[in-house]
Amino acid sequence: PPLYIITPTYRRPEQLAELTRLGYTLKHISNLFWLVIEDAEKPTTLVTKLLQKINVPFSHLVAQMPEKFRKNKVKPRGVSNRNRGLEWIRANASDGVLYFADDDNTYDLDIFDEMRYTKKVSMWPVGLITKYGVSSPIVRNGTISGFYDGWIGGRKFPVDMAGFAVNVNFLISRPNASMPYKPGYEEDGFLKSLSPLNLTEIELMASNCTQILVWHTQSKKNPNAMALDMTKYNNTNLVELKQ
Ligand code: UGA
Ligand code: MN
Repeated sequence: PPLYIITPTYRRPEQLAELTRLGYTLKHISNLFWLVIEDAEKPTTLVTKLLQKINVPFSHLVAQMPEKFRKNKVKPRGVSNRNRGLEWIRANASDGVLYFADDDNTYDLDIFDEMRYTKKVSMWPVGLITKYGVSSPIVRNGTISGFYDGWIGGRKFPVDMAGFAVNVNFLISRPNASMPYKPGYEEDGFLKSLSPLNLTEIELMASNCTQILVWHTQSKKNPNAMALDMTKYNNTNLVELKQ
């Protein structure tokens, strides 16, 4: 079955570096389709060029964060993009598995082999997240007995975006499933929108959640780089760019 990888991304100095690292990771995986969805008005030319160069089968889409959320202090990051990805899958896919892979995380190739056989929803641990250092289902006798996460926040599914995958036919059987514009509750809201979905039905990956195959890494921002739009770099303009 095909894998559909939904990657939200947005313009910033680190963008091309993040997409380079993720793209060459995905290149090792066969039968994979990469949905790269920019939070932007129109596609960034250098992103399109990079995707063509990496040569993983892809679709480059845009889905801008609605205006009303853009001025919020805590923004619903990547939500418009992921919902656009879900819409694309509903219109174009008929089997397989979908996974939300943020552009800045780190992925062991084994997780893609495991998630590919998801029948409904699968879950596994995510490393380097919150003060606990890991977020994971707690497994007792082969099923979920709870969740270990630095912030439970009253959620039914206190998991990170990188910690679950969904079968495409299961998604299609839930025509109203989507992600809410609710910071902190995106994963929980989306998983709840797939209901009915019992905790006992969730398939546990990464050897019953004993292995960490995905890390919530974050690139350190270089505040000075913010002044220079790296997507405009071409060397011939360095004299103009120099202040
Ligand atoms: C954490 C979670 O790991 C995310 O899955 C979740 O979406 C996010 O929190 C949230 O709830 O806001 P975090 O590392 O804090 O992620 O967030 P980012 O990596 O900055 O953003 C998540 C994704 O959205 C990235 O792929 C990023 O490129 C994209 N994004 C971010 C946008 O498309 N637009 C933005 O304005 C910001
Ligand atoms: Mn991130």
